[in-house]
Amino acid sequence: MSLFLEFLVVLVNAIWLWLVAIYKALVPVSMQWTKDMSKDTVLVTGAGSGIGRLMSLKFAEMGCRLVIWDINEEGNLETARQIEAKGSKVKAYTVDLSNKESIYETAAKVKADVGNVDVLVNNAGIVTGRKFLDCPDGLVEKTMEVNTNAHFWTTKSFLPEMMERNHGHIVTIASSAGLFGVATLADYCASKFGAVGFDESIRSEMLKYRKTGVHTTVVCPFFIKTGMFEGAKSRFPWLLPLLEPEYAADKIMDAVRTNQPMLCAPRVLYLLYFLRGVFPSTVADVLAEFIGISASMDDFVGRTKPKTA
Ligand SMILES: NC(=O)c1ccc[n+]([C@@H]2O[C@H](COP(=O)([O-])OP(=O)(O)OC[C@H]3O[C@@H](n4cnc5c(N)ncnc54)[C@H](O)[C@@H]3O)[C@@H](O)[C@H]2O)c1
Repeated sequence: MSLFLEFLVVLVNAIWLWLVAIYKALVPVSMQWTKDMSKDTVLVTGAGSGIGRLMSLKFAEMGCRLVIWDINEEGNLETARQIEAKGSKVKAYTVDLSNKESIYETAAKVKADVGNVDVLVNNAGIVTGRKFLDCPDGLVEKTMEVNTNAHFWTTKSFLPEMMERNHGHIVTIASSAGLFGVATLADYCASKFGAVGFDESIRSEMLKYRKTGVHTTVVCPFFIKTGMFEGAKSRFPWLLPLLEPEYAADKIMDAVRTNQPMLCAPRVLYLLYFLRGVFPSTVADVLAEFIGISASMDDFVGRTKPKTA
């Protein structure tokens, strides 16, 4: 094919994909095509509380079989009880995602117990929320291990079978802090930027090797009221509201069911991300300060006790 013809094909394809993206952005999900996940086995990490628990329950409502991982055994078992109460199958595993060997061992157990995993949701996460120079080395390392490295080891464990069957979905729960640097979140932002880059590279690999049945979704929400970011605030809540956990979980489910590659919530984050790309960094910095991004963590206290119920 001549270069000109190739360019024309790409142009037509790009216009088509733009139209599809606009349709998906404007039309309610209830009126869109959504995939049937009722026979899928879904593994959710960090299912012992917050968004992980809510997503697990929503997958259970769709008829999926659940595999749930958490370091918090009590919280994870409570999630399992709630899933069973909905009449769905679930297997709970206590696993420390900062430990590579523990991940590989648990993944092997999962394969022996339930077989293939169709959907992997890398959700577990931690935050230190301190000025970088006040962050002990051990906590910086832990943040990277749980929020980024764990994604490598879980994906290495379950992606091969997904590729073999050309069927699967890797969901990365990152953060808007994976798109914008924020004061007192240096280690967290680094870990979430890593997660975002990892997702994009895996998506690129699936396209390159024509594994079009293996999908990826990266999720970049602003603060969610789960307790993890207790005390964090928004200067203009009408523009950048703190999200209700139910709302965030519903949006994630919609994105997964429609194979949406990237989800930002609230939607204004798409615009801010675009502006950040076209504005000089100095201008973006001034705007971020005005919007209150750099002060958003000033009153942060974080989760004071583990959430179980
Ligand atoms: N809450 C927010 O404002 C917010 C905003 C953007 C992104 N996120 C991301 O969403 C995800 C879920 O957060 P959440 O708000 O539900 O928080 P959460 O604290 O309620 O849930 C995190 C879960 O991860 C588990 N976990 C932590 N360390 C672990 C480890 N070493 N091994 C296994 N499990 C471990 C915890 O026990 C907990 O159940 C996280 O990745 C977080 O970074 C949260």
